Amino acid sequence: MNKSEKAIEIKDLNKTFKIDSGDFNVLNDINLFVDAGEFLSIVGSSGCGKSTLLRMIVGLDKNFSGSILSYGKSIKGAGVDRGMVFQESRLFPWLTVEKNIAFGISKKLSNSERKELVEEELELVGLHNFAKAYPSQLSGGMKQRISIARALINKPKLLLLDEPFGALDAMTRINMQQEILKIWEKQKTTMILVTHDIDEAIYLGDRVVVLSSRPGKIKKIVPVNLSRPRDRSSYDFTYVKSEIYNEFFTKVENPFSYTI
Ligand SMILES: Nc1ncnc2c1ncn2[C@@H]1O[C@H](COP(=O)(O)OP(=O)(O)OP(=O)(O)O)[C@@H](O)[C@H]1O
Ligand SMILES: [Mg+2]
Repeated sequence: MNKSEKAIEIKDLNKTFKIDSGDFNVLNDINLFVDAGEFLSIVGSSGCGKSTLLRMIVGLDKNFSGSILSYGKSIKGAGVDRGMVFQESRLFPWLTVEKNIAFGISKKLSNSERKELVEEELELVGLHNFAKAYPSQLSGGMKQRISIARALINKPKLLLLDEPFGALDAMTRINMQQEILKIWEKQKTTMILVTHDIDEAIYLGDRVVVLSSRPGKIKKIVPVNLSRPRDRSSYDFTYVKSEIYNEFFTKVENPFSYTI
């Protein structure tokens, strides 16, 4: 692997959906790179093409123009080197937690190797006592932890997170952000997080990509040069936040009053 190669390099990407009323250009002229080991956050309003972009990066949608390279190689389809946590829970309700996590493990591994991997992941997300539980017996936050464990099971180099904490209450959400940060620091996995939550994007990301909508374009990339763990109430944090807010809302003299 060439050290200068990026974990992800997106060049001149355009995505158009064909719908009854004609062509619908969702993403336009996207040029973006992600360094190996980076935590990249993406924010943008609903419908601007965030999930579509992640689906293309993970290899689930190959119908676009331009290129997406991973370590210099074109992405041909979904692969074990890229994991994804989807916006909606995709756990199988009829399988236990351990079977859900084990679902995507390489068939080449022995039973004991598979068991060991599942235990490792359960430990990582702090749910080792729930191996035999079914998804219906878990809270929303626990289900998301299982989804994260499942996405990490093959030790992907890249983890894509599509609004993974969107349905959680504020306190659980903050706990989950800390958990994901611990995993990122421990495993050195490159992460791309899509979120509506600007605080979350800044708390976690090395950079925050701001997407505009219709068509989705990169409006701005804001670096977050703050050491971790970050203090959400600090002046520097609030400063970065206002930089991003100003991309979405009209800037007004009074910083406590924004209008769309
Ligand atoms: N298979 C499809 N066919 C046609 N249009 C689609 C398809 N999938 C998505 N779209 C459209 O593309 C646009 C972007 O969708 P996408 O799901 O990527 O948005 P998003 O930014 O993830 O929104 P949200 O924040 O609400 O999840 C939307 O207008 C959506 O209607
Ligand atoms: Mg989405």
